[in-house]
Amino acid sequence: MMQTTKFRPLFNLAAVNKEFIRTVAVASAAVKPTDTNLKSWREIPGPSSLPIIGQMHHFLPGGALQGIEGPEGTMKIFAMYGPIVRFDAMFGKPAMILLQDAEACAQVLRSENWLPVRPGFMSLEYYRKEHKKNKTRVTGLITDHGDLWKEFRSTVNPIMLQPKTIKLYTKVLDEVAQDMIVRMKENRDEKNMICNDFDKEMNLWALESIGTVALGCRLNCFDPNLPADSPEWELIQCVHDLFVTGNELDFKPSLWRYFATPLFKQAMKMYERHENLTKHFIEKGKEQLKNKSDSEKGVLGKLLEINEEVAHIMASDMLFAGVDTAANTVTATLYLLAKHPDKQAKLREEIMSKSEKRPYLRACIKESIRIMPVVSGNMRMATKEYNIMGYRIPKDMHVVFAHRDMSLLDEHYPRPREYIPERWLASKDDPLYYGNAHPFAHAPFGFGARSCIGRRIAELEMDTFVARLIENFQVEWFGPPPTVQQAALNYIKGPYNFIFKDV
Ligand code: HEM
Repeated sequence: MMQTTKFRPLFNLAAVNKEFIRTVAVASAAVKPTDTNLKSWREIPGPSSLPIIGQMHHFLPGGALQGIEGPEGTMKIFAMYGPIVRFDAMFGKPAMILLQDAEACAQVLRSENWLPVRPGFMSLEYYRKEHKKNKTRVTGLITDHGDLWKEFRSTVNPIMLQPKTIKLYTKVLDEVAQDMIVRMKENRDEKNMICNDFDKEMNLWALESIGTVALGCRLNCFDPNLPADSPEWELIQCVHDLFVTGNELDFKPSLWRYFATPLFKQAMKMYERHENLTKHFIEKGKEQLKNKSDSEKGVLGKLLEINEEVAHIMASDMLFAGVDTAANTVTATLYLLAKHPDKQAKLREEIMSKSEKRPYLRACIKESIRIMPVVSGNMRMATKEYNIMGYRIPKDMHVVFAHRDMSLLDEHYPRPREYIPERWLASKDDPLYYGNAHPFAHAPFGFGARSCIGRRIAELEMDTFVARLIENFQVEWFGPPPTVQQAALNYIKGPYNFIFKDV
C-alpha cells in the first residue's frame, strides 16, 4: 500500500489550477424525500426491449440502429429519442443513460466530484486486479476508484498539472518537434506526400513526446533504422490494439464478464505485453536518471523521490493514455487547417512573428478538438440516486455525457459545424463568443477532480508540434474527407491525402 504520509489533500488541485474546479452553482440533483412523483428510469425513451435479447435486435441487420456506430451514431440516437436515452443491460454490459442535456450533465458531474467513479476499461481493471492478483494494491488512475485513486491522484497532481512544472518540458518537446519535421521532410515523395503510414508517423511523434516527459530521456523513435520489431514500434501497435480490443470488451456487449472468451484471453496477453514493454522503457529512463538535474527529470524521476510504485504505474499509464490521443488531435488540426487555408495563413503569421504569446494557435487546436475530438464523451457511475429530467436514476447506474454531440449543437456554438478558431478569441458581445455555450456542453478533457491528468502536457506537446509544422509546411489536403472510426477513441483513418509543401 502507498504510504499515508505521502497523502496530500485532493483539493490541492484547486490551487494547481482554478480552471479545473468550476464553481458555477447548480442545483443538487440527488433525490429528495419530496420527490414522490418521479418517473422510473425504465420509462426513459430508448430502443424497445424484447425478453432475453433486450435491445439487441435494433442493432442487427434491418434494425433501426444497425450500422449506427461511429461518432455520428449518438447524434442519430438523440434525434430519435431526445436528450436523455436509456440503454438496458445487455450481455454483461451494464445499463446506461446517455445525456445530451448540458444542465443534466452538470448536475451529475458536480455531484460526483468528491470520489468520482469513471467506469470503462473494465478488462484492464480486471487484468490489473484479478489476473495479477493485485486486489488491494494501487493500480493507477485509469483503473482505481475511491480512496486508492484519491491518494494516487493527490501524489501526482502537483507534478503533472502545475503550469510552471510543465513549462520545463518546453525546450525538449521543441527538440522532438524539430526532429520530427526533419523526419517528415526526409520521408516525402516527389508529390510532397508522406511515404510511411501517416497515422503511425503521428503516433511515433506522440510516443517520443510523451516518453520524453514521462521518462526524462529521449527514446529515439525517429531513428530511420528502427527495426519493425523494435520495442518502440511494438509499443505503438500494442497501445492501438489495446484501445480497439478494450472497445470490444468494455464498451460493447461481451460475454467475457461471464466466461473467458477468446478475445478476453487475447486482451490479457496484450495487457501483459504492454506492461513488459513499458518496464523496458522505464528501465531505460532510470538508467539515464543518475546524471540529471532536477529540472531535467521527467515525471518518473520526480515521482521516484516520492513513491516508487506510483512512479512506475504513472509512467506506464502515460505511455498508454498519451499516444493515440495526442496523435489524432494533431491529425485533426492539420486536416482542418489544410481545408481552411485562410486560417492556416493567419496562424503562420502569428507563428512567424515569434511573439511569446500565441493565442490563435491555441484557438486553432481548441476548435479542432471541438469539431473532431479524439474522445466523444465521458462517463460517471452514480454513487447515489438522482432526479435527472424528472426520472429517478438509481445508484450504480452508468451515466454517459455526450460532450462531442453537445459541442456540435447550434444552441451552444453558433454555426457549429464550421471551423472558426476566432470563436475562442471573440469578445462577449460577439454572437460567436464561446462563453455563450453552457459550461458543461464542451469538456474534451473531462471534469473536475478526475479530469485528464495529461491535459497540460498534451497541450504543450500539441502547441509546440503544430507550430513547427505550420512554420515549415504549407499543408494541403485533396479528395474526400477522412473517415473517423470510433473504437474507445475516435481514429482518423486513411487514405491520408496530405501534401506538405515547404514554406
Ligand atoms: C488530446 C489529448 C487528450 C485528451 C482529449 C484526453 C482526454 C481525457 C478524458 C476525457 C479523460 C477522462 C476525464 C474524466 O473522467 O473527467 C482523461 C483521463 C485521463 N487522461 Fe487524458 N486526454 C488526452 C491526453 C492525455 C495524455 C497525454 C495523457 C498522459 C499523461 C493522459 C492521461 C490520462 C489519464 C491517466 C487519465 C485518467 C485520470 C483520472 O482518472 O484521474 N491523457 N483524458
